[in-house]
Amino acid sequence: MKFAVFASGTGTNLQVIIDAVKRNEITAELALIFSNNRKSLALKRAEEAGIKTLCLEPKDYLAPQSYDRDIVIYLKEHEIDFVVLAGYMKLLTPFFVKEFPNKIINIHPSLLPSFKGISGIKDAYTYGAKVTGVTIHFVDDKMDHGEIIMQESLKIKENETLESLTERIHALEHKMYPKAIQLFVENRLKIQGRKVLVLDKPAKTV
Ligand code: GRF
Repeated sequence: MKFAVFASGTGTNLQVIIDAVKRNEITAELALIFSNNRKSLALKRAEEAGIKTLCLEPKDYLAPQSYDRDIVIYLKEHEIDFVVLAGYMKLLTPFFVKEFPNKIINIHPSLLPSFKGISGIKDAYTYGAKVTGVTIHFVDDKMDHGEIIMQESLKIKENETLESLTERIHALEHKMYPKAIQLFVENRLKIQGRKVLVLDKPAKTV
């Protein structure tokens, strides 16, 4: 099984995934790192790990659909089976999602459906939430909306700063993401309506 990671920024989740693949904790081939941002640290991490990269910048495209179409063509050429979003700060078009049905996973730094969007940690903090957390979910064509695979919470302490909360959320993400990806690789995630069942044994393929 081959997969691609999409990342736009610092790529700490990407790094954890690269390391987990090396340690065989994720038993799939990380065949491609894609970024929409030429300057992202994620691309540097990929190069250092010797993984193939692709970077396309949206500013070179007139329509979002043609941007996503070019990515899909590349992914199909390279026989990518599934896609992991790790800080990919761009909404995938419905066209893209249809090409990889139930085969795109995202991580979000809040307890969805609360605090969707690009600043989930800060939004929960400034709202005064007492509890927040991390959500890993399948991707559909609505933002931060697909079926929830895994969710863990943490309490926001009385003396918490945004910085300390951000650090704790990232640590939780790094612990959870490789495990969720491996469940997908082992075909142990079964979508039933809005629910995702985690099976003891791999689901039978139809
Ligand atoms: C993470 O908090 C992730 O949940 C969100 O974007 C952030 C990416 O961080 N979608 P990094 O680039 O993996 O360090």
